[in-house]
Amino acid sequence: MIAILIGTNRLGSRTRLVGAQLVRLYTALGEPTHAIDLGLLPVEVGSPRAYTEKPAEVSRLALSLGAARGLVVALPEYNGSFPGVLKLFLDLLPHPSPLEGKPICLVGVARGRFGGLRAVEDLQRHLLYRRAYLYPHSILLSDIDELLGTEARIEDPAAVKRLQEQAEGFVRFVDRIVPPTESREKPRLASP
Ligand SMILES: Cc1cc2nc3c(=O)[nH]c(=O)nc-3n(C[C@H](O)[C@H](O)[C@H](O)COP(=O)(O)O)c2cc1C
Repeated sequence: MIAILIGTNRLGSRTRLVGAQLVRLYTALGEPTHAIDLGLLPVEVGSPRAYTEKPAEVSRLALSLGAARGLVVALPEYNGSFPGVLKLFLDLLPHPSPLEGKPICLVGVARGRFGGLRAVEDLQRHLLYRRAYLYPHSILLSDIDELLGTEARIEDPAAVKRLQEQAEGFVRFVDRIVPPTESREKPRLASP
């Protein structure tokens, strides 16, 4: 299973739409997927007690993360970095961390023209500290308002091609690090 993490809890987030598109994309590649939406986190995650008394939803999302062969993070850029709620969620993950040794792929989303570059680079630094295996081809979706328009999905052919190529490459990357179980039927992708 590939987990798709929506890296914000903002109501009306455009990153959430991108995450839903990623779910459809990986599903079409024959990968079972599971969305981890930070919008589901309860307000208790902001409590001073949250580090010792983990809210049940954090533990549930952490379990999904741990069960995933790979993780795709769709994240917006907020004030030149990634959202605080994403850092809080990552800080509340249990030890041993489900991020350690996890293949992870990033998709930056921003209204600005740098496509979330600063958010992606900040998260890369954090994930390397957590000993994750970073897929080297991140995608930066700039001018997201124009890219989505009034639609709930990206239809621009060049952007769709980039998302498709990243997903195919990431599945091959995950397969090398965490081979799929033999029992699972899955269409094989062409070698790079
Ligand atoms: C608190 C906040 C800070 C933001 N900071 C930036 C920024 O630094 N650079 C940028 O390009 N867009 C910034 N934006 C705009 C987001 O890129 C835009 O909302 C985009 O749709 C992705 O975020 P979303 O998933 O919340 O919709 C910011 C938005 C919010 C809510």
